[in-house]
Amino acid sequence: MSTPNCYHITTFGCQMNKADSERMAGILDGMGMSWEEDPFKADLVLYNTCTIRDNAEQKVYSYLGRQAKRKHQDPNVTLVVAGCVAQQEGESLMRRVPELDLVMGPQHANRLGDLLEQVFQGNQVVATEPVHIMEDITKPRRDSDITAWVNVIYGCNERCTYCVVPGVRGLEQSRTPEAIRAEMEDIARQGFKEITLLGQNIDAYGRDLPGSTPEGRHKHTLTDLLYYVHDVPGIERIRFATSHPRYFTERLIKACAELPTVCEHFHIPFQSGNNDILKAMSRGYTHEKYRRIIDKVRHYLPDAAISADAIVAFPGETEEQFQDTLQLVEDIGFDLLNTAAYSPRPGTPAATWDNQLPEEVKADRLQRLNHLVSLQAAERSQRYADRVETILVEDINPKDPTQVMGRTRTNRLTFFEGDIQALRGQIVPVKITQVRPFSLTGVALVHSLA
Ligand code: SAH
Ligand code: SF4
Ligand code: F3S
Repeated sequence: MSTPNCYHITTFGCQMNKADSERMAGILDGMGMSWEEDPFKADLVLYNTCTIRDNAEQKVYSYLGRQAKRKHQDPNVTLVVAGCVAQQEGESLMRRVPELDLVMGPQHANRLGDLLEQVFQGNQVVATEPVHIMEDITKPRRDSDITAWVNVIYGCNERCTYCVVPGVRGLEQSRTPEAIRAEMEDIARQGFKEITLLGQNIDAYGRDLPGSTPEGRHKHTLTDLLYYVHDVPGIERIRFATSHPRYFTERLIKACAELPTVCEHFHIPFQSGNNDILKAMSRGYTHEKYRRIIDKVRHYLPDAAISADAIVAFPGETEEQFQDTLQLVEDIGFDLLNTAAYSPRPGTPAATWDNQLPEEVKADRLQRLNHLVSLQAAERSQRYADRVETILVEDINPKDPTQVMGRTRTNRLTFFEGDIQALRGQIVPVKITQVRPFSLTGVALVHSLA
């Protein structure tokens, strides 16, 4: 098989997958291939897949069916499935779609080059065994030139009873603070302005690294990491996700309040507002504890944006228990809430329980929660009206090229009139003139930023 000239990557799922795709694209660039926008024209097609819910998983099968057909016409096409479906299905995916050349789990993303060498020698390859994730030596091909992701911890050691992530992403592996800072410095030198530190359970950062402080506290926590990396020259904004309420500390909130580059934006999924459901999910906290965390955040940072994830219709959830979720949402006032109906996943405990709820109940609860969420987002947006916000400009508004778009420190998407050539990567004070539930429009208070 000859080395392909051009490649296409389609990415499903969360920010971890997006970050992995950027690293894999960097490896393919390094092998001399070029990006092809059309997946049906590319010589090498890579699907980086997600299996968090059944509908996420099913999406990839329909694409694979079409690509497999194409391969019968053109046997030189190289087909790769990476990510979480690849990890979950492994060999059986290869049996189901024998046209595949490579099936590789997320821990193998940095090994794409080696794995493809084996493919080009004529092998069909499945790489799903757990490995120690190599420090990356290739430059990612990043989608944006203003904001970048930096992985700080891979994997997850929690055992939420509904979740496939620990099974597909493996055990926690933290990168060293030195490696993280070095990557951030490199990103800053390339002109990026904002970094989001990534981990499925980012509060677990450092648990697996050696070392403790003289007081006996673990030396490497997320808080310590923020103190260590907050002042990388050129990086104006730092975000982090995802936080777990079980491990979220007051020390972390204080660090966010104290460090000017760390943004007032917290993503802390609660999943359910009912303690019995939280227990059945094995989440390890109560709704009272969750409320205390949010109170603390708002005590130190009254304007902070709070976003979260929630699941409705978990096995056995009664109407009253669902009402507790509505109540929590009502009381807290989220800026953004990602909602989902429970989806039974292979290999997870909750999928085997006999108290699964019917589809009608799932759809009804999801719709009721979403209705409340959109009302609330609209209400939360109101606080921006007539205020001056600092916007980090990322790009043009794809719907109106006379406008640029960027985000507030609290992560609200904001549009205003301006020239992208002059403004890209600049932080601009903008007076907000229109508010919508999930975005804002304003006018720049400075027009020339030479
Ligand atoms: N590590 C993060 C979230 C990871 S998955 C955390 O602990 O919160 C992203 C979101 O997908 C979860 O927060 C949850 O709301 C949702 N999710 C995960 N498994 C699901 C399932 N089986 N059914 C429906 N939603 C699910
Ligand atoms: Fe899944 Fe729970 Fe880990 Fe989040 S903390 S990735 S929900 S197991
Ligand atoms: Fe999906 Fe894997 Fe992320 S299952 S949500 S892509 S960790």
